[in-house]
Order: sequence, then C-alpha cells, then structure tokens
Amino acid sequence: MPKLEIKDLHVSVENKEILKGLTLSVDTSETVALLGPNGNGKSTLFQTIMGNPNYRVTSGSIKFDGKDITELEVDERSKLGLFLGMQNPSEVPGVNNVDFLKASLNAHREKPISLFEFYKVLNKAYEEMHIPFEMSSRNLNEGFSGGEKKKNEILQMLILQPKLVMLDEIDSGLDVDAVQLVGSIIKKEQANRGFLIISHYARLYDLIHVDRAFILVNGVIALEGDKSLIKKIDQQGYEWLKKEHGIEIEKEEKMNEVSIGSCAIKDSMK
Ligand SMILES: Nc1ncnc2c1ncn2[C@@H]1O[C@H](COP(=O)(O)OP(=O)(O)OP(=O)(O)O)[C@@H](O)[C@H]1O
Ligand SMILES: [Mg+2]
Repeated sequence: MPKLEIKDLHVSVENKEILKGLTLSVDTSETVALLGPNGNGKSTLFQTIMGNPNYRVTSGSIKFDGKDITELEVDERSKLGLFLGMQNPSEVPGVNNVDFLKASLNAHREKPISLFEFYKVLNKAYEEMHIPFEMSSRNLNEGFSGGEKKKNEILQMLILQPKLVMLDEIDSGLDVDAVQLVGSIIKKEQANRGFLIISHYARLYDLIHVDRAFILVNGVIALEGDKSLIKKIDQQGYEWLKKEHGIEIEKEEKMNEVSIGSCAIKDSMK
C-alpha cells in the first residue's frame, strides 16, 4: 500500500514560518481527519504536499510510495496519485472544463483516452455528482457558485482516480443535500483510495469512516486520536487543549489582541 510520509517538515510562506517540524504518515488504505484552529497551517500543509511553489520547504521531507517527492513539480505529484481538492478553487478563464479534464486524464495515462471512452467516464462522473452536463462546456470554475466549485473538485477526483485524496474544507459552501452527496461518494471511494480530510465540522465526518484524527496547532501535529476527538472539538472547541494537554494556541501579532475598541474603553476609564 503506498504511504505518505512527512518528517520534520518546516515550511515558510512569504518568509514567515508556518509549519514548524510537522511529522505525519498516512496510508492509502485509511482515512484521516485533520482539524485545527483557523490559521494554524492546515491548508499550507496540503498545498505543500501538492507542490505549490509559493510554499517553501526549508527542511524536512515528504515521501510518497517510498519516493522523496519534496522537489517534484505539481504535475509529477499528481501523476504519482496525489490529489488536492482545494479550499478555494481558482477560476481559470479561457480553459474549458472538458478540455481541462481530458488533458488531466491523459497526463495520467500512457496512451490518450479515446473520445468515446472519455465521454463515458465524463457522463458517469457528472451523473454521480448530480451536476448538469451543460456545465462541462463552461470555463473551469469561472462564475461557478461556491458549492459548484466544491462539487467540481469531487468530480475531478472521480475522473482522475488518485491514490491519496486531500480534501480541504470540501463541505464549506455545500448545501445540506450536497454535503450528504459528497459524504456518500467519499464513503464509497474509501474502499479504493486513502483520504486526508480537513473540515471544521463533525457533520461530514459523521457520514464517513474515519480511522484517525489529527489536530494541527502552531504548525505541528499537536495531538492524534480516534473519531471521538472530532466530537470533542465539535462540542468544546480547542480551549481544552491547554487545560488537558498543556498546548497553548499561539496568537498572531500581539497587536491583534488590543482592539481599538478596548483601548478606547480603557482610555475613557482613566
Ligand atoms: N500565500 C500566503 N501569503 C501570506 N501568508 C500566508 C499565505 N498562505 C498562508 N499564509 C498564512 O499562513 C498561516 C496558515 O494559513 P493556512 O491557510 O494554512 O491556515 P489553515 O489552518 O488552513 O486555516 P483555516 O482553518 O482558516 O483554513 C496564516 O496565518 C496565513 O495567513
Ligand atoms: Mg485552510
């Protein structure tokens, strides 16, 4: 079974260190939930695993299927079987959805797919996702609603059939029915591939099988547990981390804690 292995990963964005020695390993036969407070580095981790050049690895390593992929380009990682469903999928004007899907699929194959086969695969995926087939002729994500963009990410996953799927807040922006649909698709796909799933809410995780849950705080995996961790966070937030585990969530610049409002109140009390 291919495995993703990350060791002591340090990553900087715009010269600011975001990941500070993160270690984690995920098998492609399991589903791992990744949680953590806003701004602690979850999306940074996924972007780095996928090879976004804005995220600079300053030390540590990322291995997939035994191969060091730390220096590989995005398309090479994709060919190895990694896939990222982004938190904020980009609009790509001028690139047609069908052309994009066909080019991506062909990049993963030795011989280009026949038009007949391709339309069979495409039709099946659009049907499964309950997306009107007319949307296939529009430009990639251009003018798509928030939910349509997220559904389009899952559609890409169905077509590319990766070995390890990273989904970054796939449930945000989806209506209740769409969350149910995406949950049922993930559940079905869990038999064929591994998942690393970021979500802030238990409702998506409730619909699928979860093997392990990680909490990412201050740029490292601060705690690992089972599905019960998700329920605890859903009900209590993250305050208990300090009381029960001595993990204090670092705040951004001290300036942020002193709002203009509180200064004004303090001043008027002098
Ligand atoms: N391209 C960038 N330029 C500047 N700062 C960035 C960039 N990308 C990420 N950051 C900063 O890195 C930190 C971690 O961001 P990241 O998006 O990884 O957080 P997150 O854990 O995914 O949060 P959320 O739960 O809100 O999605 C944040 O402070 C963010 O502002
Ligand atoms: Mg994020």
